[in-house]
Amino acid sequence: MSKPSRRQFLKDAAIGASAVLAGWNARSYARILGANDRVQFGVIGLHGRGYAHMESVKSASNADVTYVCDVDRLELDKFAAATQKTFGHAPAKGKDFRRLLESPDVDAITIATPEHWHAHMAIMGLQAGKHVYVEKPSSHNPLEGEMLVEAQKKYGRHVQMGNQQRSSPHTIDIIKRIHAGIIGKPYLGKAWYRNTRASIGIGKQIPVPDHLDWDLWQGPAPRRPYKDNIHPYNWHWFWHWGTGETLNNGTHEVDLCLWAMDLGWPKIVTASGGRYHFTDDWEFYDTLTTSFEYDHAMITWEGLSCQGKLSEGRGRGALIHGTKGSVLIDRAGYQVFDLDDRKIEEFTTDTKTSTTDLRSVDAMTDAHIQNLVGAIRAGEALRSPIHEGNVSVTMLQLSNVAWKLNRTLHLDTSNGHVVGDPQASALCRRDYEKGWELKL
Ligand SMILES: NC(=O)c1ccc[n+]([C@@H]2O[C@H](COP(=O)([O-])OP(=O)(O)OC[C@H]3O[C@@H](n4cnc5c(N)ncnc54)[C@H](O)[C@@H]3O)[C@@H](O)[C@H]2O)c1
Repeated sequence: MSKPSRRQFLKDAAIGASAVLAGWNARSYARILGANDRVQFGVIGLHGRGYAHMESVKSASNADVTYVCDVDRLELDKFAAATQKTFGHAPAKGKDFRRLLESPDVDAITIATPEHWHAHMAIMGLQAGKHVYVEKPSSHNPLEGEMLVEAQKKYGRHVQMGNQQRSSPHTIDIIKRIHAGIIGKPYLGKAWYRNTRASIGIGKQIPVPDHLDWDLWQGPAPRRPYKDNIHPYNWHWFWHWGTGETLNNGTHEVDLCLWAMDLGWPKIVTASGGRYHFTDDWEFYDTLTTSFEYDHAMITWEGLSCQGKLSEGRGRGALIHGTKGSVLIDRAGYQVFDLDDRKIEEFTTDTKTSTTDLRSVDAMTDAHIQNLVGAIRAGEALRSPIHEGNVSVTMLQLSNVAWKLNRTLHLDTSNGHVVGDPQASALCRRDYEKGWELKL
């Protein structure tokens, strides 16, 4: 098969698309903010990660939460009350994010919804003139990621992806030193994640709870009946809405490896593993190893969703091996080793961070949101601009494709597209519920 050009790839995606997300009239309500203006945030998706967004906006200088949005009324009311307590005033609230996007009192949005929504909300946010903080993974599939990168360029607002370790001072410091040659030439980045997740069981079809708008929860995803093991959180483990543990957690440490090793698109992607621990509705693996090969370098990720046995004494981390030594990086600090495994340096941060409880106060997320505020008000460079974040995300989405098809993928290293495998390319996009087709 001949390789589709980037332009063709995007064109194909748009063919057949109805009007931009039917009924949506992208009006631009955007204030021009000066260095002293308060940046007003709308927070979308409130059950879990939304709390960290709200707390981090509170910690940022001269920033506010003015609007909160969730399709689950119970979550909306609870979060609005928490926002009022935190900021001392009641935010506007509603279940339809399109109303939030119309509000002149929102300059920037944060997105912490299920992943079938991320690219849609981010692109529609840009079309409405808003700046965007979108949780990792920034899209549900590679085509959406590519469209989001194009949309950012087209609409010109800032888009920061929520891989917050990019804003961790000790990580920034050690990666600068890796770039300066502290371990020679890095050639192997090894990333991992551990958790002891419970089974999600076999879902039962039940009536939609009266506090949930299931139609608006589904949005772009073709309609399915409501079951009792999807919302909240367990959608992560279904292809229809989620992206599995590699995107849920690999996104953080694989991104560190890419950054530390200064790499872009790999040549080859492989993945193997399975759902070994439980038998239930969970559609992804709970045990996976994946690797990304480059000329003279490689990145691996190992994800164990149902095993608490640590690796290097840590539930997550990245180990970078180079020609002169190795560096171990995690959220709490780093260690530097020589080639004979002698520890020659160690640093532990005293800022509050957590590797597991991401609803709580976290200095990395505070700094990452502050960075977006700085970009909006004063042109500060973003630490995870979407064109960079999208590379890590797409690589891990391709790892999911390699796992699903049980074969090696070969990529065009100029753009990350799969070469010579139409079946794999078909899995780099998805169908939409009528009226929710994505178009720039
Ligand atoms: N950066 C991090 O460290 C970090 C940590 C946790 C989660 N996350 C990411 O945050 C995202 C959310 O994860 P979570 O665990 O909070 O999920 P969750 O299921 O706990 O919460 C998602 C919320 O989104 C709401 N929602 C669904 N559709 C909506 C819509 N159309 N409009 C408004 N609200 C809608 C749901 O009702 C729910 O309250 C995921 O992408 C996840 O990967 C990132």
